[in-house]
Amino acid sequence: MVKTAVLEAFEERQEWLTDLVGEALSDMEIRPMDRWSHWNKVYETKDPTRVSWFQSRPETSLRLIANAGLDPSARILDVGGGTSILVDALLAIGYQQPGVLDVSEEAIQRTRARLATRAEAVEWYVEDVTRFKSPHRWDLWHDRAVLHFLTTEEDQRAYRKVLGRSLAEEGHVVIATFGPEGPGRCSGLDVVQYDVDRMQRLLGEGFELKEWHLEDHVTPSGAIQQFLFCRFFRVSSEVETIVFKNWTAVSSQLFPE
Ligand SMILES: C[S@@+](CC[C@H](N)C(=O)[O-])C[C@H]1O[C@@H](n2cnc3c(N)ncnc32)[C@H](O)[C@@H]1O
Repeated sequence: MVKTAVLEAFEERQEWLTDLVGEALSDMEIRPMDRWSHWNKVYETKDPTRVSWFQSRPETSLRLIANAGLDPSARILDVGGGTSILVDALLAIGYQQPGVLDVSEEAIQRTRARLATRAEAVEWYVEDVTRFKSPHRWDLWHDRAVLHFLTTEEDQRAYRKVLGRSLAEEGHVVIATFGPEGPGRCSGLDVVQYDVDRMQRLLGEGFELKEWHLEDHVTPSGAIQQFLFCRFFRVSSEVETIVFKNWTAVSSQLFPE
């Protein structure tokens, strides 16, 4: 019995090691150029106010971010921010430490240019989110319309892992993806539709769902796209969960009641 618990603990450690080696190997691979070049081309060739995901006011995102009840000094990262005006709005509201990450350098340059001198208050990252190594933790992770482009299990796991190591303990997550009746493709790419259970499974037990709803987005050409918006709160870090689970398993074997 004790042996089983010890073996389980060992297996978890082995999985952690495999992940570590996998990450090191993936860093040696060539950057996923197709993703990078796809999105740069989009932003080089399209009017940002005519792309299907354009919003003149990111109201729902701002409401869910406000519901997290953070101080103005909180660090808020807009993952796959593109040319969204969310960062302008965050600065205008008084958040002092926003960040924007996007795989497209073109999108980041456009957004920086739009903000002019206000851009200095923002942390900018031209990165693929699945490989992002944040220099510090964030209090809130915001993603509107990025996660659903990750169609492989490998990329989804990588996203989840980056989120886990980039988010503060007791951090907040606001994610919007296509909903169960959302489109099957966007920007010429396949996408994944999420319902709230699928989203909860992706994030795991350490994240408590605080609110969610489905919402129709009207594209500039008048099409309707269903989105799922979710807000989660991180209740425990993975490390604590693993240590606690292992200890509970081992102690119940050693000291049966
Ligand atoms: C549909 S747009 C949404 C942009 C913005 N969030 C908004 O709501 O207007 C998707 C954005 O995610 C970026 N993106 C796509 N895949 C990404 C990845 N793997 N890592 C980082 N950014 C990515 C694209 O460059 C693009 O700006």
